[in-house]
Parts: sequence; C-alpha cells; structure tokens
Amino acid sequence: MTKNFEDLIAVNHISFRIEEGEILGILGPNGAGKTTTIRLLTGVFELEEKSRVKIYSEDLTKSPKKLKKLFGIVPEISNAYSDYTVLQNLNFSGTIYGLSKTKIKERVNTLLERFELGDKRYAKTKTLSKGLKQRLNLCMALLHQPSILILDEPTSGLDPFSVTIVRNQILELKNEGKTILITTHNMQEAQQICDRILIMNRGNIIADETPDNLRKNFKQTSTLVFKMQDTLSYEQKEKLNSMFNLKEENNNLFRVISENPLEDISYLYDFLKKNKIQITDFKLLETSLEEVFIHLIKNDSKFTGDDIR
Ligand SMILES: Nc1ncnc2c1ncn2[C@@H]1O[C@H](COP(=O)(O)OP(=O)(O)OP(=O)(O)O)[C@@H](O)[C@H]1O
Ligand SMILES: [Mg+2]
Repeated sequence: MTKNFEDLIAVNHISFRIEEGEILGILGPNGAGKTTTIRLLTGVFELEEKSRVKIYSEDLTKSPKKLKKLFGIVPEISNAYSDYTVLQNLNFSGTIYGLSKTKIKERVNTLLERFELGDKRYAKTKTLSKGLKQRLNLCMALLHQPSILILDEPTSGLDPFSVTIVRNQILELKNEGKTILITTHNMQEAQQICDRILIMNRGNIIADETPDNLRKNFKQTSTLVFKMQDTLSYEQKEKLNSMFNLKEENNNLFRVISENPLEDISYLYDFLKKNKIQITDFKLLETSLEEVFIHLIKNDSKFTGDDIR
C-alpha cells in the first residue's frame, strides 16, 4: 500500500500479512503512518491503483461491502455520536450492520456487561470519561461479531483499571479466534499481547518480528546494575572500564551494558572478590522493547539524515 498527501509520502509501498487468529501490533512514532495504514485497510482512504488488500484471498476493492462487514473498527477518532446515549449509539451501530432488534438487544446486554458499562447505558456519550468512551467504542466495534478487529490506540490515555479491562478483552477476543490489528505507543502492552510487531517509521516498515525476536536480534541484550559499598579508586575504575562497557551513574552505582551477561557477571564477581569490594545491590535488566524501538527509530532516521518526526 502507498498513500501520498501531496508531496508527503505517508505510507511508502509497505507490504505485510496478518495471520488468522493473531494479534499484530503496529508501533511507530507520531506521524509514522500507522493511522493512515489503518484508514487504507478499512476503506476510509481509497486505495491507489497499484495498492492491494486481500482478505481471506479476496480483493478488498472487488467486494468492499462483504469484506468490510468482517471488520470491527475502533478508529483513532471515535465515531460515537456525543448527543446519543450509550444505548442509542449501540442501537445505531447494530442497525448499520443490519442486525435484528432482538439480536441487537442480546448483543448490547452481553457487551455492556463484558465491558462493565451497564450502569452507563442511559448516559449521554458526551458525559462519559475518556476510558468509558473507549469501552463504548469497543462495544460498538464488536456488536456485529466481526472476525477481524482493527484498533487504533485502544488503550491510549486510559487509567490502569480501564487499560486492564480493554487489554484483557483483547486477549479474550484472540482466544475466541479473532484476528486483531492494534496500534499502540505502549511497549509493555505490545510485548504482553502481540504475537508479532511491525515497527513503522516515516511511512516504512522497519521491523516485522515477534516481540522476543525483536529483543534477541538487538545486540545489547542485558544491563548489569550494581552498587558498591565504598567508592572505587581511580585504578579500580580504570580496570573495570577496560573489562566492560562501564557507565558510572552516581552514589557508587554502575551500569554494564552486556552482550554476554553470564560471562560478565562471572568476571565481575572475580574482580570484586580479588579487590575485596562489597556490593550492596545487584540487578540484571533485560533489554526492553522500548530500548529496541528507540534504537531502531534513531538508526533509521540517522540513515536518511531526517529528524525523528
Ligand atoms: N488527511 C491528511 N492530510 C494530510 N496529511 C496527513 C493526513 N493524514 C495524515 N497525514 C500525515 O501523514 C503522516 C502519517 O500520519 P498518521 O496519522 O498515519 O501517523 P500515525 O503513525 O498514526 O501517528 P500518531 O502516532 O500520532 O497517531 C503524518 O505526517 C501526517 O501529518
Ligand atoms: Mg495515529
């Protein structure tokens, strides 16, 4: 797919697959092209002539009506009517998807319970907090029992309680066999729930991996953090520096970036023992997806000489 806005290439000849039943996460800095990708997939933007989207091997542009019914969409900007009550918005969504009145009633009750929104059914949408509104958006997207969910930052700006409800529901939907495409800025979330992650930058896909592989392929695998009881002498620091990639923080706290943590721990232990140095704290930190993300984006932007946008 490609999408240009005049001379800006928002999505640059990208190509990817989503396997049935998986959760695919799209990560990327602001302006990377995530929402544009979703808008192309869901028909908000018309596909350019050479772009193609296939769903269960059918061409989206050839049978748009039939295929779009498979989608449940939570867009970046909510499409709920603010003057409608929660119930009115849900009834309206059900009517759009051609569900019968009985079916709508049954689905609405199930979803309101599932997303803990039952006591808000008569509240006007404009009176809902962000988190409650997002839960309503999810209910609206799920009403017609779609098999493919497309969620643009479904947990952004929500409190931990709402995040947990939404995240657990996403996992439950996966267990029910739904295929889920989600964009997020939350690395921890991506790591927790996604089977595969695409990282986008300036309209391109710069990584397409499982969360584990993303971290493994990144050389800087671990960080050893240790705190000394006493201040090290200049010579001791020099010696440590010659052995490791050492960074001193403050108050006798040191950090070693390590590609081979087990070996480095053993060297460090020998050195400390030989020099009779006591440590008061020790931690081994795994590389987080956040570090991988920042590294990839910085490298990609350095490569082209662009600022990170
Ligand atoms: N309708 C539009 N007209 C002109 N430019 C647009 C339009 N929509 C998006 N863009 C531009 O396309 C680029 C990609 O935007 P997009 O909204 O897809 O980014 P995003 O990855 O979703 O960012 P965010 O994380 O901030 O939501 C940006 O430079 C944006 O300004
Ligand atoms: Mg966006």
